[in-house]
Amino acid sequence: MKKILINFAHPAKGRSKINAALKVAVENLEGVIVNDLYSTYPDFHIDIAREQQLCEEHDVIIFQHPFYWYQAPAIIKEWLDLVLEHGWAYGSKGKALEGKIFFQALTAGGDTTTYQPNGANLFTIGELTSPFSATANLCHMTALPPFAVMGVHRGLPEEQLKAYAEEYCRLIIALRDDRFDIAQAKDEPLLNHRLDNLILRP
Ligand SMILES: Cc1cc2nc3c(=O)[nH]c(=O)nc-3n(C[C@H](O)[C@H](O)[C@H](O)COP(=O)(O)O)c2cc1C
Repeated sequence: MKKILINFAHPAKGRSKINAALKVAVENLEGVIVNDLYSTYPDFHIDIAREQQLCEEHDVIIFQHPFYWYQAPAIIKEWLDLVLEHGWAYGSKGKALEGKIFFQALTAGGDTTTYQPNGANLFTIGELTSPFSATANLCHMTALPPFAVMGVHRGLPEEQLKAYAEEYCRLIIALRDDRFDIAQAKDEPLLNHRLDNLILRP
C-alpha cells in the first residue's frame, strides 16, 4: 500500500468551494494525510525538517490548490524554495525523493478550451505546470499530469462537483492500492481525462 501526502494550499479556505469539496472527499482515507500549509504556516515560517520528514514517509506527494495567476498559491513556491534542499532533494547526494510519484490536483476558473494555443489563456495546463514537472524530474521523482477541475468560473453544478470529488477519491485509492497505470498516465494531458482507462482492476 502506498502512503499519500497531500500538501493542501488555499489562502482563503473559508471561501473555497471546489478545493474544500475535493479535500473532504479524501482526507479520511486510510493511508492518506492532508497537510494544510496555510493553516500550519500562517506566517510562512515553514518547518523544513517536518516537511522533509513528511515527504520521506510518503510515496506519493500531491500539491492540491486553486490555479492563481497561472500558478500555485505563494506558499507552495515558499515550500519548494525551502524544503527542496540541495543534497536532500537534488544534487549528486540528494536522493530523498527518488522514485516518489508527484502531481498537482488543481482547480481553475477557465475551462479546457481556453487553455489552448488559440484560446484565451494561450497555453495548455501541461505547459503552464511544466516548472512542477521539471522540478519533480530534477528531484528524481515520477511526475504525472495534473488532476484538474476546470471551468469553475461558469459555476459548477452540485452534481458535477460531487462527480469530481468522487473521481479524485477513486484516483487516490487506486494509487494507494497500486491499481494505477503510471506509465500510461504520463501520456495523458490530465489524470482525469480518461481516468477509467488508468485504473487497473483488482
Ligand atoms: C487571485 C486569483 C487568481 C486566479 N487566477 C486564475 C488563473 O490564472 N486561471 C484560472 O483559470 N483561474 C484563476 N482564478 C480562479 C480560481 O482558480 C478559482 O476561483 C478556484 O479554482 C476555485 O476554487 P475554490 O472554490 O477552491 O476557491 C483565480 C482566482 C483568484 C482569486
